[in-house]
Amino acid sequence: METELINLCQQTPEEQLISCRRAGELLRFGSLVAFPTETVYGLGANALDPEASSKIYAAKGRPSDNPLIVHIADWEAIETIAEGNLELAKKLSDAFWPGPLTMILPKKDCVPLATTGGLSTVAIRMPSHEIARTVIRFGGGYIAAPSANASGRPSPTTAGHVYEDMKGIIPMILDQGEVSIGLESTIIDLTEQIPTILRPGYITLSMLSDCIGEVRMDPGLSSENTAVRPKAPGMRYRHYAPKAPLVIVEGPASEVIRAINARTASCSGCGVIATEETKDLYTNAEVSVIGSRSDEESIAHNLYDILRGFDHSTVTRIYSESFDTPSMGTAIMNRLIKAAGHQVISAADLLNEL
Ligand code: TXA
Ligand code: MG
Repeated sequence: METELINLCQQTPEEQLISCRRAGELLRFGSLVAFPTETVYGLGANALDPEASSKIYAAKGRPSDNPLIVHIADWEAIETIAEGNLELAKKLSDAFWPGPLTMILPKKDCVPLATTGGLSTVAIRMPSHEIARTVIRFGGGYIAAPSANASGRPSPTTAGHVYEDMKGIIPMILDQGEVSIGLESTIIDLTEQIPTILRPGYITLSMLSDCIGEVRMDPGLSSENTAVRPKAPGMRYRHYAPKAPLVIVEGPASEVIRAINARTASCSGCGVIATEETKDLYTNAEVSVIGSRSDEESIAHNLYDILRGFDHSTVTRIYSESFDTPSMGTAIMNRLIKAAGHQVISAADLLNEL
């Protein structure tokens, strides 16, 4: 299959509208289209058509029990697909939609089990990206869209990443440059007694609890407690992992730098994930700068691009600093720890090992 890559950045607003309408027509006919959102690029299909949803699983190589998020463009759409009391959902919508928040609610019968991975609940998000909402409207209003990467690879933050994974597999990619946030939406499960975060993201626990009262983190997300499984099926799979093994080193900055320098001293082909503040302090490795500690959004924004970059380089082992930044740190570390396959070590232990 030929994959058409449409560069919206070079189009006038009228031409962009025509491109979005063409994308919408493909979606209505049951095809897949990749489009930008403010979090990561999505791989869209008509969420109310089980055959169209099934094509997403095939294109990504995604396990069929991993449910999809239904993207909508207007609040009213939620009433068509979600059952029950929408009071909390309305409060959250008023505060955070359109934006990087996904809500889990009981589903109505019109949402096929092929879209929800067999679950009786449905995940719903209204993205803030204008192009995304225009495509959703032209596509019929209910667009299932996982991240547009091949299953197991880092989520795409540019159309180039999507092209890498989906070339020849889907008919159209809409390119509007780099996304703004770079990490997937926060997921909150409103079917639990206490609303529960199933995936951390740009919208933090404290922002959510300021809006609706008590909110908890899914205990299955804790990296210490691996006996409890995460509730979101997608959070159980190994994900985002670069081909070279990745180890996260924790501790005071000076110790982390000393430990990584000692570790890489005898290593040719070691990579380090560092920040603007520390990049010049590593002496033996190929340094990738993820962003600045004074701008945590830059770290979130660049994480997946850096992880993908390693697969194009010759590094054979990667050490990363830890990024427990004040607001997005939970989300950044959730993704980074998965990428590292839970290989986290303290700088002190690493120095002792030498
Ligand atoms: O930012 C985002 O949310 C992006 C953009 C494209 O909107 N989409 C995205 O979709 O990240 P995906 O498929 O890569 O991740 C969806 C996550 C998976 O972990 C899945 O298991 C979980 O949401 N999920 C979906 N429906 C669920 C449900 N009913 N119950 C629990 N978890 C659910
Ligand atoms: Mg994904």
